[in-house]
Amino acid sequence: MSTTDLFDDLPATVSRETLAPGAMRLHAFAREGDATLLQAIEEVIAQAPFRHLVTPGGYTMSVGMSNCGELGWVSDCSGYRYDALDPLSGQPWPAMPACFADLARRAAAQAGFEGFRPDACLINRYEPGARLSLHQDRDEKDLSAPIVSVSLGLPAVFLFGTGRRSDKPQRYRLAHGNVVVWGGPARLAYHGVAPLADGEHPLLGRHRINLTFRQAG
Ligand code: SIN
Ligand code: FE2
Repeated sequence: MSTTDLFDDLPATVSRETLAPGAMRLHAFAREGDATLLQAIEEVIAQAPFRHLVTPGGYTMSVGMSNCGELGWVSDCSGYRYDALDPLSGQPWPAMPACFADLARRAAAQAGFEGFRPDACLINRYEPGARLSLHQDRDEKDLSAPIVSVSLGLPAVFLFGTGRRSDKPQRYRLAHGNVVVWGGPARLAYHGVAPLADGEHPLLGRHRINLTFRQAG
């Protein structure tokens, strides 16, 4: 069962919800400053556009992806990996905007993970119908650092399970501004996103954008 608590050191509108041991949702954590985040996303995407990656199994992902930071997550027919260069341009990924790194660090600390220093930010863009099948984030070198996931735009149903693929995942509706942090005993939890329902968001129209921060290298 999830519990919701209010904490003195959070703005009154931000509550912290435990999803599982090691996994927390910070409601509305990224709501304040969302326009700054979206502006920064546009600047990154101008340099490293969204693209639909192909999985090693030959399937084209429905989610559009890009990255910023020292390392970017990429997939192609040879496998999944982190790469310092954008394979589209052959150039380093755009630098991680200061407002991204700061948000991720503060969110991790609120969830009990002090000293989070992300070197990779995967930017996912969902259109209605786009989905992400259940997977573990396990391409990172140091699994002691958490994952910080920021939801913007249209709401999505987030599937969050355990470290066993066969366990039925819980379903959470992630709204604009929600931040989910998972680490420690939840670090290898299977997770995914159900097909995005159509809708219109005041800032993002018919899209959801998710920022996933990692200490990958
Ligand atoms: C991911 O697992 O990389 C992204 C999850 C999400 O879009 O919420
Ligand atoms: Fe993931």
